[in-house]
Amino acid sequence: MPAIALIGAQWGDEGKGKATDLLGDQVDYVVKFNGGNNAGHTVVIPTPDGPQKYALHLLPSGILTPGVVPVIGNGVVIDAAVLFSEIDALVSRGVDVSRLVVSANAHLIPPYNRTMDKVVERFLGNRRIGTTGRGIGPTYADKMNRIGIRVQDVFDEKILRQKVEGALDQKNHLLVKVYNRRAIDVDVVVDELLGHVERLRPLVTDTTLLLNTALDDGRTVLLEGGQATMLDVDHGTYPFVTSSNATSGGACTGSGIAPTRIDGVIAVAKAYVSRVGEGPFPTELHDDDGERLRQVGHEFGTTTGRPRRCGWYDAVIARYSARVNGVTGFVLTKLDVLTGWEQVPVCVAYEVDGVRHDEMPMTQTDFHHARPVFEMLPGWDEDLSKARSFDDLPPNAQSYVRRLEELSGAPFAAVGVGPGRDEIISLRPLIG
Ligand code: IMP
Repeated sequence: MPAIALIGAQWGDEGKGKATDLLGDQVDYVVKFNGGNNAGHTVVIPTPDGPQKYALHLLPSGILTPGVVPVIGNGVVIDAAVLFSEIDALVSRGVDVSRLVVSANAHLIPPYNRTMDKVVERFLGNRRIGTTGRGIGPTYADKMNRIGIRVQDVFDEKILRQKVEGALDQKNHLLVKVYNRRAIDVDVVVDELLGHVERLRPLVTDTTLLLNTALDDGRTVLLEGGQATMLDVDHGTYPFVTSSNATSGGACTGSGIAPTRIDGVIAVAKAYVSRVGEGPFPTELHDDDGERLRQVGHEFGTTTGRPRRCGWYDAVIARYSARVNGVTGFVLTKLDVLTGWEQVPVCVAYEVDGVRHDEMPMTQTDFHHARPVFEMLPGWDEDLSKARSFDDLPPNAQSYVRRLEELSGAPFAAVGVGPGRDEIISLRPLIG
């Protein structure tokens, strides 16, 4: 029966693929429940000419696992052109994508929302969010404003035209009068969206019914969150967040699987922290240590190529993630990146205007003023990549993991020690 939510515990790019790999063939369905092509995971595809690296932005990672049904849930926003170009690229590499299904209730990213995303960011100037520019925010805003275009709308041309007209009625005023851009033509948008109908039709299904029936039949469903807890529109560092619910609650609303059916919540946390885009980040490093984390950890955005901001592990954020997601097990990734430091600082609390905070400050102002209170842990020099059990780790790396676990509010289920699929140490079962 199990339905498991898999989410990022920090600001994204924690390496959720590690947890997916650990679950391996135990999973029957992988559901993307939020976000769109703002996400990015690099996957390695075995081909007759050797392994090929490929960056996926929209398709769920389960697309590559033979036998798994990949599902794009109702909580996702879909750029149809990106969807089909990712499908085509995978097919040309011999990957079977025929099991993919898409919710009729997912929203489409119309071309005007890509324009709006970029124009609004430019307009915001130094108040910008640093979005990925893919039209994610404007499309979720349309959803809440009830002027969104859903996948099912493209199957009824009359309705589609009415909805596009309704949305452009508002947007063209903004584009022309506020942002000084040309108005967008309804026909052009309708034609572009209709151009995807024939390819969308066979993919679209009632995914909520499909997934609940699968659970009734004893199948395992993995609900994979895009972005991460601190980018969640409700629980993250608002307004420097994405526009969807990336926390475990979003797994329910974004898939139609009820909270009573979720059996476990796996959170992935890096052994340090990174962030792309703007917004507060208490443990951020602006020195050589930050540069070293970026270089050794290859911390450059998969979607935009931007260098990621890097900093030390923040246990306050981990505890907060454990709380708002109901985490049943953490997977700690990239421990190997920390090899070679004499001491590794860990943020255990914040100091805000002279007052110690052991939990996330309540207000944005306090979080912006938060200074990390560090505990210094002894480092290690040994190569970790061959370690396959906890005892294989050097004593100081063991102490680092144990201390992080004590501080982070939920048990650690596994520790990643390298980029390879098998470079992981399992500490306890991920499910059950
Ligand atoms: P948006 O999701 O494009 O609206 O961007 C909002 C914020 O979320 C920006 O700071 C982005 O850099 C960040 N963001 C969006 N997707 C990801 C991701 O997959 N990993 C890390 N950061 C992300």
